[in-house]
Amino acid sequence: MLILGIESSCDETAAAVVEDGIRVKSSIVSSQIDIHAVFGGVVPEVAARAHLGSIYPIVQEALREADVGLDDIGAVAVTQGPGLVGSLLVGVSFAKGLAAAAGKPLIPVEHVHAHLHGALLGLKEPIDSDVFPCLALVISGGHTNLYYMPDPITFRLIATTIDDACGECFDKVAKILGQAYPGGPKIELLAKQGDSGKYPMPHMVQEKARLDFSYSGLKTHMLNLQRREGSFNESELADVAASFQAEALGQLVRKLKTATVLYSDAKSLVVAGGVAANQTFRKMVVDQLPLPAYFPDLKYCSDNAAMISAFAWHLYRSESDKGVFQAPFNWDVYSRYDFPKYLVES
Ligand code: KG4
Ligand code: ZN
Repeated sequence: MLILGIESSCDETAAAVVEDGIRVKSSIVSSQIDIHAVFGGVVPEVAARAHLGSIYPIVQEALREADVGLDDIGAVAVTQGPGLVGSLLVGVSFAKGLAAAAGKPLIPVEHVHAHLHGALLGLKEPIDSDVFPCLALVISGGHTNLYYMPDPITFRLIATTIDDACGECFDKVAKILGQAYPGGPKIELLAKQGDSGKYPMPHMVQEKARLDFSYSGLKTHMLNLQRREGSFNESELADVAASFQAEALGQLVRKLKTATVLYSDAKSLVVAGGVAANQTFRKMVVDQLPLPAYFPDLKYCSDNAAMISAFAWHLYRSESDKGVFQAPFNWDVYSRYDFPKYLVES
């Protein structure tokens, strides 16, 4: 079945057509990064207005590139949340109108969970018995969430950050070191030339068995280091970046190691979100963890609609008999806490 996915939760307008949750027929992403750059961050009202202008042409382009019409589509899927309310409303309203007019089911999708399905695009089989149950890590600018997933639509949150998110820490430390936003890629580039043993970094102090993450102590340490040293020359900067990166990523690896012991029936690791683009992290996971790992293609690490279509395929397969995807679509966007009811385990 082909699913047309629509994503508009933050500053990317995206649409995609994906077959059976794994074969991407088209994936179009329009980034607003230039529009927000002058403000130094995403401005919600500006984002919503930009989505309004681009959503129709982006959906048209996704259908055109997949070489299909609305009649060929089995269902429409859309990000329901979390995200910026104004931005979400544009995508959800558009998708509701489109699905109602075309007489198609409409599948609301949780964005953070969908990121994990971005790592499984391209599998040979949509229900791969080598993947589940798995440990699934979302590392982005806003989230550091570790889930135990017994199957593709059940997400048990087993650890999260108690303060900053991992990507947020990369961005803030990059800023401390005088680098532009987004800082993650800049730190990774600098770290390539550096020695990660040059600057000792603090480890998060916690009971060993506790899985939760913490990044504010590391961030404060970097701020103090910068204040103490004043400025860094080129090679010192590379060493500082490499030392910071090794600890920021090392914490993730240590927690994942503990999780593989606590959840010993997990068959694989699935890693997604912006920080999953980090090549050093990919190598650490492959070298140091005992399970096979799935990462997204680089183009599916950041926000896209292919992951929305992919997750929606699994939801449709197991939940469509409950009637939740049929018109009237009497559900709304949610910005943060109100998880879709059909996903909550009883
Ligand atoms: O998932 P994402 O594109 O957006 C959301 O936060 O929703 O993640 C963006 C985050 C930023 O904090 C960015 O600095 C980080 O991912 N990031 C990286 C790398 N590429 C992006 N962090 C470390 N290394 C990278 N190569
Ligand atoms: Zn995202």
